[in-house]
Amino acid sequence: MISAPTPPAEGDQIDTTDLPAHVAIIMDGNGRWAKARGLPREVGHERGVEALRKTVRAAQDLGLSHLTVFSFSTENWRRPVKEVNALFGLLRLYVKQDLKRLISEGVRIRVLGTRVGLPTDILALVEEAEVKTAANDTFNLCIAFNYGGREEIVRAAQTIAADVAAGKLEAGAISEDCFSTYLDTGNLPDPDLLIRTSGELRLSNFLIWQAAYAELVFQDVLWPDFGAKHLREAVAQFQNRERRFGGLATGVA
Ligand code: IPE
Ligand code: IPE
Ligand code: MG
Repeated sequence: MISAPTPPAEGDQIDTTDLPAHVAIIMDGNGRWAKARGLPREVGHERGVEALRKTVRAAQDLGLSHLTVFSFSTENWRRPVKEVNALFGLLRLYVKQDLKRLISEGVRIRVLGTRVGLPTDILALVEEAEVKTAANDTFNLCIAFNYGGREEIVRAAQTIAADVAAGKLEAGAISEDCFSTYLDTGNLPDPDLLIRTSGELRLSNFLIWQAAYAELVFQDVLWPDFGAKHLREAVAQFQNRERRFGGLATGVA
């Protein structure tokens, strides 16, 4: 007897001609991952970097063009110094270990967030990563580090005010499109798909302007366990959503 074929898992039903232009991820759950194993939180963050490597690879393999990851928020300064230092150390390590490969793969790196408060060696590394990859366009990786959506908007407003005061910009010319160009994301497409791991159901100040119409996907997996399968599942969910942007559903007259 011939049995019916098993239907493909949701993550395998991806239409590669209709991928989200920009995927953003709140990489959450490193601490809980470590706690569940009786390990220090820092080990969870280390494993989180491994998951980031896998995810960038998976995004490239899937044919995505823009990936933004939330790696350290302006609010994460509230954590113990030891943990903040560990998170800074991991950014150092990631750039030092992966930059050469990312350059050779045509990855363009941008770091979103305020530079205020960052140690000088981190500033130098960030600068190096951005400058050395500036001409790349195969894949865009944005790392939101020392990033907060409200801080970004206020900083953009300050620059706009200074440009108006200097006569470089007319107040009446400040449109949504114009305002967007002053954000750290500049001319990047808005994220269409925003994923948060670890089961938390909030944005935590991530891309609050840019994600106005993003499709939100919350997954129960803790970030260190995230991989290609979860990314594909999220993209498949995205492709099953009907995006209306305030209009009417297709077929509704
Ligand atoms: C995400 O994991 C990494 C950062 C926020 C820097 P967490 O450290 O927030 O892990 P949980 O949420 O405590 O499990
Ligand atoms: C958001 O996660 C920040 C990052 C993933 C870098 P948090 O763990 O800091 O968010 P809250 O505190 O649970 O809202
Ligand atoms: Mg968290």
